[in-house]
Amino acid sequence: MWTLQQLFLGILVCLFIFKYLKMKWEARSLPPGPSPLPLIGNLWTLNFCFHPDTLSKLAKHYGNTYTIWLGHTPMVVLNGYQAVKNALVSHSEELSGRPVASFIQDITNGKGIASSNGHNWKQQRRFGLMTLRNLGLGKRGLESRIQEEAQCLVDSIRATNGKPVDVSYLITHAVANVISAVVFGHRFSFDDISFQKLVAGNNLLTESIGTKWAKLYDAFPWLMQRVPGPHHKSFECKRLLDDFVRNEIRIHQENGTPEEPSDVIDHYLTQIRKASGEPGSTFDEANMIQVVDDLFVAGTETTVTTLQWALLLILGHPGIQRKMQKELDAVLDGQVICYEDRKKLPYTNAVIHEVQRYGSIASVGIPRSSISNVTINGYPLKKDTIILPNLDSVLRDPQYWETPYKFNPNHFLDKDGKFVPSEAFLPFSAGHRVCLGEQLARYELLIFLATLVKAFNFQVPEDMTEVKTEHKSRLTSKPHQYKICAVPR
Ligand code: HEM
Ligand SMILES: *[C@@H]1O[C@H](CO)[C@@H](O)[C@H](O)[C@H]1NC(C)=O
Repeated sequence: MWTLQQLFLGILVCLFIFKYLKMKWEARSLPPGPSPLPLIGNLWTLNFCFHPDTLSKLAKHYGNTYTIWLGHTPMVVLNGYQAVKNALVSHSEELSGRPVASFIQDITNGKGIASSNGHNWKQQRRFGLMTLRNLGLGKRGLESRIQEEAQCLVDSIRATNGKPVDVSYLITHAVANVISAVVFGHRFSFDDISFQKLVAGNNLLTESIGTKWAKLYDAFPWLMQRVPGPHHKSFECKRLLDDFVRNEIRIHQENGTPEEPSDVIDHYLTQIRKASGEPGSTFDEANMIQVVDDLFVAGTETTVTTLQWALLLILGHPGIQRKMQKELDAVLDGQVICYEDRKKLPYTNAVIHEVQRYGSIASVGIPRSSISNVTINGYPLKKDTIILPNLDSVLRDPQYWETPYKFNPNHFLDKDGKFVPSEAFLPFSAGHRVCLGEQLARYELLIFLATLVKAFNFQVPEDMTEVKTEHKSRLTSKPHQYKICAVPR
């Protein structure tokens, strides 16, 4: 006779075999890919994360559209400009979903913009875009806020007296203050403890999204909710962020509705009133908090990391700073820099584009999901298939870039020094889910960087023997930490 344990084990083994056969069966109608193992799929091959180099290597084997398995869930990976563009641009609507069972979804409860779906996503995204437009990036709107914040950043960097310092914290504060101006309508001072906590929590939250723990959570949500690990810290940070936002909402409510709404919360409170009673309205407090969270999470670390790359690459390539300064001095003539000036600053503009390309800070990008049956690059995919457009592989596609792995502003300049755009420049992705803050980010990068380079000569500290401009880890797309001497010009 079988003991109970043997019976249990037998059932378990049968279950595994059944699952495995089911996976093999499903795989027949999917793009090719490495053979999955039962239970963990290809997570072993992937080392439990989406490393851009691993994904590119697999593309050499299986083609530009291939399948990898996260546990028992297939994910279709797109590599290189053509495959990504064909999918995201030609099937923009069909690929406008986000995977439902995931770490990010559990953190956001499917609310807000970045990880929501369907009607909720459409309403919240449209609101987000309209509000950013209403707040105005032009001269009287956010642009002047960015200019002010850039000036504050210059002042705080000047206070370092040319000593070697890591300016990351100062940059983070400045960028977080731009988002604060957008969502809360005001900035925070350097020594505001609650703001410091918010910024730190936000950083941790953003970083956690690319980790192995998050990938394990995506593959085994039920299990990961129950085992201890650093992923629980992300949920704590999220609660901290929510509390902060809730407090700001209270303050707005107590102050009453202003004549002219001047930040996201003002606009949102007005929207809730306007839409109340409309059938199917998704405008409520939970969505408002998540929209603000989304803007904070998506808009801070991304911009900060890009600026960190910019200063590091300038340190590593001394000729570039001099060339930028020459151009800025000739064009700006003592005036504050505006976004419009980029047209007269081809070299500076090319450097910023190349920083974004080389840094590739979104790494492999954020997974999408098909909202209906759709044929991608010749493969028929079912509704709810997870799709990863590998953005890093676009920014390093050898067919479009002369030196994919080398920093080279000439990628964006013709032989007369004129700026030339490139179609394979997709750091903000493309299609209906394209980065909502692209315009804001472009304003920030130009105004912050041009203001800094005009104000300082950035120099390598004496005791720094080598400027390491390769990625600290290609997984997080961050540069090595560094110190810099900012000598006022
Ligand atoms: C250099 C800076 C930035 C980079 C490189 C960047 C890149 C990206 C990328 C690659 C995506 C994913 C798009 C997709 O699913 O294919 C994204 C989404 C998003 N970004 Fe950005 N971003 C930046 C700055 C910002 C800023 C400043 C904001 C906020 C004001 C922002 C808000 C968002 C939002 C809300 C989404 C989600 C859009 C959706 O799912 O509909 N981003 N971003
Ligand atoms: C989607 O494709 C599946 C299988 O390929 C099929 O069974 C289903 O009917 C299709 N759905 C629609 C709406 O076409």
